[in-house]
Amino acid sequence: MYTEKVMDHFMHPRNVGEIENASGVGTVGNAKCGDIMRIYLDIDENQVVRDAKFKTFGCGAAIATSSMATEMIIGKTIQEALEVTNKAVMEALGGLPPVKVHCSLLAEQAVHAALWDYAQKNGITIEGLKPPVNDVDELDEDEE
Ligand code: FES
Repeated sequence: MYTEKVMDHFMHPRNVGEIENASGVGTVGNAKCGDIMRIYLDIDENQVVRDAKFKTFGCGAAIATSSMATEMIIGKTIQEALEVTNKAVMEALGGLPPVKVHCSLLAEQAVHAALWDYAQKNGITIEGLKPPVNDVDELDEDEE
């Protein structure tokens, strides 16, 4: 039921860990399943994501999407990173079973929360970035 890519990123997740003195940190959870994800971003002076790491206390789909999401945003500008949606991450993984689609929202929203943190720390506004949610369950209805 999972694609090979999902299994690969679940079994061998990329970019697991923490970044010390990160430019931005974002944590989100899903109250329904109790899973939590934290993303750390290192953003350089040109507003390019130099590095991204994650810690996920969650299911396999959440781990695979965090791994893929970090891979997809490294090297991108903050504006481009904002455009890496959960749908784009799922596509890159070759899809997720319908009941696991909500798990991919954790990665997207954790990236947004980390970008928000970065913007707050630097007194800037990132166009199109909304204040982060703590619980992605609140967004679920729009996405399903
Ligand atoms: Fe909770 Fe997948 S079941 S994130």
